[in-house]
Amino acid sequence: MVQPNGMSNLPMVNGQFITIERFLLDRQPEYAKGDLTTILYDMALAGKIISAQTRRAGLLDVLGLAGQVNVQGESQQKLDLMADDVIIRLNDHTGRLAAMVTEEQKDWVRIPEGYRKGSYVLVYDPLDGSSNIDTNISIGTIFGLYRVVDRTNRGRLEDCLQAGRKLVAAGYIIYGTSTMLVYSAGNGVHSFTLEPSLGEFLLSQEGMLFPEIPSYYSFNHSAGRSWSPQVEKYANWLRDSYQPPMSYRYIGSMVADFHRNLVHGGIFAYPATPEKPNGKIRLLYEAAPLAYLAEQAGGYGSNGRRALLDVVPTDIHERTPVFIGNRDLVAKAEEFLRQS
Ligand code: AHG
Ligand code: MN
Ligand code: MN
Repeated sequence: MVQPNGMSNLPMVNGQFITIERFLLDRQPEYAKGDLTTILYDMALAGKIISAQTRRAGLLDVLGLAGQVNVQGESQQKLDLMADDVIIRLNDHTGRLAAMVTEEQKDWVRIPEGYRKGSYVLVYDPLDGSSNIDTNISIGTIFGLYRVVDRTNRGRLEDCLQAGRKLVAAGYIIYGTSTMLVYSAGNGVHSFTLEPSLGEFLLSQEGMLFPEIPSYYSFNHSAGRSWSPQVEKYANWLRDSYQPPMSYRYIGSMVADFHRNLVHGGIFAYPATPEKPNGKIRLLYEAAPLAYLAEQAGGYGSNGRRALLDVVPTDIHERTPVFIGNRDLVAKAEEFLRQS
């Protein structure tokens, strides 16, 4: 039945759409209930607020550079800082977190004195793809959640520097033609679409998996002149030899490239070059959460040599080369990169 509100394709239970709150309460495994579920709900709320701000970006004075440079020497957009502020303010006083790591702050973020501390660490990129903000192209928020190493402490650097294999949940919110939240807490990848008139995230798909036959590959080809011969051969193999042929798409928002490739199958890559010996993507709050989602969806994320999830960060802002998407395409990248 086609309904006037156009939501007829969403899953329902007893004639009701499934809200994210209900899904988190009913469908999460026992270990993920409690604080973890509530933090995910807090991130859904952060997504709604950031979505509302980005939707009005052209109307408010929030477009453009903030006039500051972040710890990585990149220009901060006003929306980068707004999104960062929203997430910190929603999470620093809840008693559920012991520490946060964000792209936009040089040091890891402490829970202010006077507030109870919790046993989780939230790592996030408040706005990914922010060079696309001014041109109305999809951007997103990426996040990951770890348990603290030692519950008795008030949060320490070592709680933040954990391998992706230790993630207990990860997800992203994509601000595209619609706003979607995609997450996993270790039992598959589930997606929700924000219904703007209700202000609710409604279940779109439970148990997302990369389609077996991939449709897209995504590299920044302008970096091709600096690629190693191995990366160049791999990119040529994707273009010239893969059957059935894939299309090439590159948005410049990893979260959007990843999302499209998760839905239609494919690979996103940001290899190392002499100019960027570790690539550009940050391990802790960009690559590891997406690699966790990729593995939960039957795919794989690699730095070209081994699983991104097995790399223990030594710096919160460490960068890594990235190959992420359908498992066989990423495994093939590792095979090409092993050749001398
Ligand atoms: P951010 O906006 O958080 O700094 O991340 C941008 C990243 C990533 O999203 C994207 O894939 C990549 O930068 C694009 O970089 P190039 O313009 O070098 O291709
Ligand atoms: Mn980013
Ligand atoms: Mn960012």
